[in-house]
Amino acid sequence: MIVAIDGPAASGKSTSAKLLAKELGFLYLDTGAMYRCVSWAVIKDEIDLSNDRQLLNFLKIFKIDLKNTGNRSSFYVNNKDVTDLIRKSNISQRVSEVSAIPDIRDFMVDIQRNYAKSKNCVMDGRDIGTVVFPKAEVKFFIIASDEVRAKRRKLELESLGEKKSLSELIDEIRRRDDFDSNRGHSPLKKAFDAIEIDTTDLSIDEQVKLMLGIVKQKIIGNKK
Ligand code: DC
Repeated sequence: MIVAIDGPAASGKSTSAKLLAKELGFLYLDTGAMYRCVSWAVIKDEIDLSNDRQLLNFLKIFKIDLKNTGNRSSFYVNNKDVTDLIRKSNISQRVSEVSAIPDIRDFMVDIQRNYAKSKNCVMDGRDIGTVVFPKAEVKFFIIASDEVRAKRRKLELESLGEKKSLSELIDEIRRRDDFDSNRGHSPLKKAFDAIEIDTTDLSIDEQVKLMLGIVKQKIIGNKK
């Protein structure tokens, strides 16, 4: 079974997806982290995204690994642990541009589909219910107000030792949503059959409970 979770930046997708996967005993894949990994490598290697040959050569040697230990998912790029580095602002500022490149998306979508092949998986991102797994058994579209999303992002950055004002973060999140929703390839969009959940006034416990109830209902329905 695939549970697809999409939605705009910092809406609470990853937090609820991770806990939901744990409760269900499913695999979990944060596809946003994958696009952040490739962005980290693009910046480090100073790849010119308009140079097709350079980009294809870069992708040939680009290797991404995910290691799950306890509650933590760690991402490795060519064997380097980039888990914390990919959350920093310099990555958030480039990731929309990098993830809009069709060759990069095709490369990532292959990995995502293979990862979940014949397995139970909760996957979160922007195009999971629309493009990666359009036949996913359960689809959620998670939203929250801009202010609440910026507050969540502020706390995440502070835990990494970075400080940014709320208004800067609101602007950054809006810019990213706008870019992600208006790109030509696999834009951020609610699938017609996705269940929308607004997490603005929900605690993490409440949102996970709500989603868990919906998935369990589906599992019971499948057994009948
Ligand atoms: O979920 P996140 O904020 O970490 O995602 C970072 C960026 O990656 C987001 O701005 C758009 C892109 N992304 C995407 O294009 N497709 C996905 N499935 C997941 C993320």
